[in-house]
Amino acid sequence: MTGTIFITGGAGLVGTALLNRLRQSDARLKLLLRTSALKAPRAARDQVIWGNLGDPSTYGARLKGVETVIHLAATTGKAAPQEFRRINVDGTAELLRASKRAGVKNFLFVGSIAAGYTDTRYYAYAESKRQAEKLVVESGLRCVILRPTLILGRESSIWKTLTKIATLPVVPLFGGGKVLVQPVDVADVVRAITTILEQDWFAGETFELGGKDAMPMRAFLDLVHRSCAGGPARFLPMPLKPVQHLLALVEPVARKFLPATAGQLCLFANSSASGRNRLWEALEPDMPTTADLVARLSKVRVPARPQEAPRQPTPDDVLTREARIFANYICGRGITSDISDHYLKAARTLAIDHQPADRFDRMTLAFARRGVGFAWLADSYAAIFNRGGMLRRRMVLLMSILENAPSSHGLFEQSPSRGPVAAVLKLGLSGIAETGVLVMATAIFVPVRILLALSSPFNR
Ligand SMILES: NC(=O)c1ccc[n+]([C@@H]2O[C@H](COP(=O)([O-])OP(=O)(O)OC[C@H]3O[C@@H](n4cnc5c(N)ncnc54)[C@H](OP(=O)(O)O)[C@@H]3O)[C@@H](O)[C@H]2O)c1
Repeated sequence: MTGTIFITGGAGLVGTALLNRLRQSDARLKLLLRTSALKAPRAARDQVIWGNLGDPSTYGARLKGVETVIHLAATTGKAAPQEFRRINVDGTAELLRASKRAGVKNFLFVGSIAAGYTDTRYYAYAESKRQAEKLVVESGLRCVILRPTLILGRESSIWKTLTKIATLPVVPLFGGGKVLVQPVDVADVVRAITTILEQDWFAGETFELGGKDAMPMRAFLDLVHRSCAGGPARFLPMPLKPVQHLLALVEPVARKFLPATAGQLCLFANSSASGRNRLWEALEPDMPTTADLVARLSKVRVPARPQEAPRQPTPDDVLTREARIFANYICGRGITSDISDHYLKAARTLAIDHQPADRFDRMTLAFARRGVGFAWLADSYAAIFNRGGMLRRRMVLLMSILENAPSSHGLFEQSPSRGPVAAVLKLGLSGIAETGVLVMATAIFVPVRILLALSSPFNR
């Protein structure tokens, strides 16, 4: 590979792996990076352009002399619909215009398998990728579109989320889990990009790219569960559409607290298996099977020095983490060490065991300790149906500490609104959000409680 290549999104999952590979070639690399990537590793000969996709004045002039643009940058995850549009559609349009003005020859766009989903209600990400693809094809540049499926790698946030889900005592399974998934190794996405460059495949084709084999979502989650938790998954079937409608309702006010958005659950409504094409066929012989890929990644979780037994969290570690998450849920802030110290002391004095004897209490606490959104769900349920449970008792304890500690009592004295209209609006929206969360929490905890009650005679 030679010539000058301009890359967006070079600090992301695919970008980091791609740069490691391209730096071994003769190509000159220009990287468009945001300042949030200041700490990302860089090679001395990389030309870094600090800028933003949406602002071509930050990078337009630097496209002069560029032969190929590789466009990886995108907003992903739980962003708001307007953010997907602003970065993924408008940002791509700006990049295409600037590339044409500068005389760029080739344009490689990394889209997503989601652009081909048929059921994309609520999925603004999929829609933004679809529109961006259209802009690329209509740009008049020599182009190619790569649509990867789920990309797995050591640093993949999807992998981290999957392992969190897989280690839940009960794994939620939406819509029966029959849709197909075909995860692809990030190394194979890099091979796909370098193959396109080497073969000069810029004839306007769209290549879907999955891994070696496809399997139903249920089997895939079970595989991840077996690798990470060492046993078969216990699934909790959940209705897909009602949960999506509910999430869509609460998202405008509670997006950041939710474990997933209505759009992200489209993964359970659409097949993500890739079609066969000449690119996939060229790469397939050297791809790992999904089982091998999952096994390899779950081994990454083993500490670097295997001779040392992994340190088990002490009861104090558990309570400190719990205090941090619950405080974030209660007042939207982290805590200072004086509060976690008070919490530990109070928990010991009141003989609050970090591992309660009651199985349901234990499960609810483990669930709530996973993060702020989880705490919100568990507490909404406990506030109505399990008021005397351990979770509620701990929330009340922490709240009284927060209200009385010098570092946090001010948080409870701030005026909550800017006027009567704002107050009514806020009240209405939080009412909707609370109701939505309560319905969701009930859908999760009631079946678990019933399951535990039914199985208890066998577990004594
Ligand atoms: N990961 C998957 O499973 C998957 C699956 C299918 C398709 N894809 C697609 O593959 C591509 C690469 O994915 P990835 O997993 O490597 O994504 P990623 O890790 O989220 O990285 C995205 C990169 O885009 C950059 N970026 C976001 N907004 C930007 C802006 N306004 N201006 C400049 N840079 C911006 C980010 O910069 P910061 O570092 O500053 O945030 C980040 O480096 C994306 O287009 C994604 O949609 C990913």
